[in-house]
Amino acid sequence: MQVLRLATKNFRNLKDGEIVPCQGINVIYGWNAQGKTNLLEAIWLFTGGHSFRGSKDGELPKLGGGNASLSLDFYSEEREQNAVLNIENGKRNSVLNGVKKKTGSALIGKIRAVIFSPEHLLLIKEGPSRRRNFIDGALCQIKPSFAALLSVYNRSLLQRNALLKDISRYPELEETLSIWDARLAKLGTEVIQERLLYVKKLSPVVVSIYEGISKHKETIEIAYSSSLKSSLKSWEPSHEEAVFLEELERTRKSDIRSGFTSLGPHRDDLDILLNGISLKAYGSQGQQRSAVLALKLAEAQLLSESTGETPIILLDDVMSELDQNRQDYLLNHLYDKQVFLTCCSPETIDLMKTGMRFRLDSGEIFQESMERQ
Ligand SMILES: Nc1ncnc2c1ncn2[C@@H]1O[C@H](COP(=O)(O)OP(=O)(O)OP(=O)(O)O)[C@@H](O)[C@H]1O
Ligand SMILES: [Mg+2]
Repeated sequence: MQVLRLATKNFRNLKDGEIVPCQGINVIYGWNAQGKTNLLEAIWLFTGGHSFRGSKDGELPKLGGGNASLSLDFYSEEREQNAVLNIENGKRNSVLNGVKKKTGSALIGKIRAVIFSPEHLLLIKEGPSRRRNFIDGALCQIKPSFAALLSVYNRSLLQRNALLKDISRYPELEETLSIWDARLAKLGTEVIQERLLYVKKLSPVVVSIYEGISKHKETIEIAYSSSLKSSLKSWEPSHEEAVFLEELERTRKSDIRSGFTSLGPHRDDLDILLNGISLKAYGSQGQQRSAVLALKLAEAQLLSESTGETPIILLDDVMSELDQNRQDYLLNHLYDKQVFLTCCSPETIDLMKTGMRFRLDSGEIFQESMERQ
């Protein structure tokens, strides 16, 4: 997958215009608040997802009114294609290869990208839900049926929790709990199974990318960690379902007291160790950043393997806190990928051996000397 040309009109602070990036690394640099993240966001919106900054669609057009329009020429499925995204009256619609679609999300699956932005550091710094969301989000992209499974599980969990709360007022309802226990154990085992398989595939890729970033100085390990007392190493679904059920029965009384299901995939986590110790508790800023990058790049690699298309890599403000060796990895060693990387410091781009650079100045994009070497 490759962006061939991006044109923006009336979008955020960007001056109307277009960029024609290269196949490899494209560095977008400039002082703060010039529009670098806005440019990455313009590309990201073509994935059909919401703004990675959590903005509302109505905030995307240039302040002062009017509608915004983005046009992307891209190469995918062995042909050149075009997508247009219009943001009109706070709503998105799209046109794919001349065919009008009602929504912006109609583009999901047509254009794939993986984004790293500083908020993604929360993946390490915050609690388990971020890490679960990372696994689930990645899985949903390569296996849409997982999204359906997860939503049925979550609905059953809500229903079981509602029942737990009711039981404290109407104890006779406890009889009906076993139906929900069975349902939760079955669906929950499937959810854990899918996540386990994904983490198993992801793990060696993360290890190898992290080795590259740290120039073999540090070793990362990732492992799925379940709230159930099961042996994840010798996982066998029918046995695990029985274990899940037993655990639900064991914790039933306390679950009724708290009105919440204390065990299951909704309480699981992804353990991340660096040189054998917890990255969250002990890792430096640069190490935590490197780890998120390794996770994101590994996600991109598994996505390429399953879809046959390498996603576009968007790296927003990734360079700060990274030493020169690590910066060199991002600038010069992400082979076979189209990368858009933003940074503030002009010195960073001196490390670039090949690629294209764009300077952003008050929303205006200037293409600078091509293909150094
Ligand atoms: N809808 C909009 N209309 C006009 N200007 C906007 C709009 N949305 C954001 N901006 C402005 O765009 C400017 C650039 O934002 P952006 O986040 O892209 O900067 P940046 O170059 O990534 O800066 P930094 O290096 O600080 O991350 C900000 O000053 C912001 O106020
Ligand atoms: Mg920015």
